[in-house]
Amino acid sequence: LKVLFVSAEVVPFAKAGGLADVAGSLPRALNSLGVDARVAMPRHGQIPKGAYITDHLVEIDARKETAVIRAGRIEALPGGNAVPVYFIDNYQYFGRENIYGYGDDGDRWGFFSRAVMEMLEPIDFIPDILHFNDWQCGPAIALLKEEYRHHPAYRRIASVLTVHNLEYQGHFGRNSLRFIGLRDDLFRPGAVEFHGQVNYMKAGLVFADVINTVSRTYAEEIQTPEYGWGLDGLLRLRHNDLFGIVNGIDVEVYDPATDPHIPYHFSQENMEGKKRNKAELQRELGLPVSDAPLLGLVHRLVDQKGIDLFEGIEEALFEEDLQLAVVGQGDPRYEGLFRRLKQHFPEKVGLFIGFDSPLAQRVYAGSDFFLMPSRFEPCGLGQLIAFRYGAIPIVRSTGGLADTVTDVRFPNGNGLVFEAYAPEDFLDAIRRGLALYWQGRRWNELVAKVMGLDHSWRRSADEYLELYGRARRKVNLEV
Ligand code: GLC
Repeated sequence: LKVLFVSAEVVPFAKAGGLADVAGSLPRALNSLGVDARVAMPRHGQIPKGAYITDHLVEIDARKETAVIRAGRIEALPGGNAVPVYFIDNYQYFGRENIYGYGDDGDRWGFFSRAVMEMLEPIDFIPDILHFNDWQCGPAIALLKEEYRHHPAYRRIASVLTVHNLEYQGHFGRNSLRFIGLRDDLFRPGAVEFHGQVNYMKAGLVFADVINTVSRTYAEEIQTPEYGWGLDGLLRLRHNDLFGIVNGIDVEVYDPATDPHIPYHFSQENMEGKKRNKAELQRELGLPVSDAPLLGLVHRLVDQKGIDLFEGIEEALFEEDLQLAVVGQGDPRYEGLFRRLKQHFPEKVGLFIGFDSPLAQRVYAGSDFFLMPSRFEPCGLGQLIAFRYGAIPIVRSTGGLADTVTDVRFPNGNGLVFEAYAPEDFLDAIRRGLALYWQGRRWNELVAKVMGLDHSWRRSADEYLELYGRARRKVNLEV
């Protein structure tokens, strides 16, 4: 089975969010199941050039522009296989510092989409499955259905679209259709039009053979107006082709017994290292070294992550004997909130504004709890990493958090869960956690239990194989 996994961001080359982690690890997991999975992504500014493979002319906006295809690889894990990577190189569109956020994003991802479709023959890799991710790939999905399906070599390629976050959709002007080379009559509500603009995510959702999101609960939630960002109607129409597969993590990478980014290694059998990491982290963030329960928070600081739940409970929260360690950047409002908290409670709040993944690892390794009060959460990887490092998640029951974290009130409990998006409920969950923390034996048992949970890719990779099978059957019925 040949799979080309197409993503705007891929670890270890470029990362803005969890999509990059998935793109860097799922293909590797598929390959260890015997799949020939490869990856395609842009060569962003910070990525080294890589060996030349081929180049081709991409027809865009009725002119031709060059895409140079360069080689890279995602290194194998012990016992696994490396993953070949195709970098699409065009300096004008991708020789930049950031992955997204430019005025010409419509053109950039339109070019990317077409370049992917047109490179398959030149690179001599016609996959059975084109596995697309998020809105940046939307135009490619439309192109496959509208144009390339008629091409004999491409006829049997099935498309899968994974939605990692429905909030980000990519809205652009009507002329982006002409730019990409899609028919203008797709500009209608039943196709790619959305409130007077072209919506790249919608293009993907309309034309993909099968769709999935990164948890079952999120797949249900996005069919409701509350979580559907205006696309819930379309998703309800497509519900027979819509699935949920929870993400895994690379358990070899996120392993407290070997992680090179943490000062002291530890495991279920030997937890001494965890204590030392905690003390080290407290020192690093300028907090008093103490036994007080340490709550970690590592996120993009955006509305999704539920940071505003801190507003209004600050006094009550910091009356408790606890410390908070925050690493993240994003919305100035939330950066400001944590700066203020640090000012008011300097003995209790440790803060690093920025993106620093080794430090993030040290937070997982040193914390007793991990906070994810998300407003919505397609999957969430933080809670899975937290389990591995023996930090107990405190989460709101939504999306992938609902599917992976069960409240300790239940027999198979592994965290603290609250339902309503309300500050008092968040505070109540934290307090229940703190009470548990001081119950020596019960606490140690809980920590040992979560460290033993299996969130490797194994099971989810099997589910992707099933999904690929479904997509292929669908296409075979059509051709
Ligand atoms: C996005 C989602 C997150 C998910 C990740 C990987 O970042 O917000 O919930 O875990 O994609 O699928």
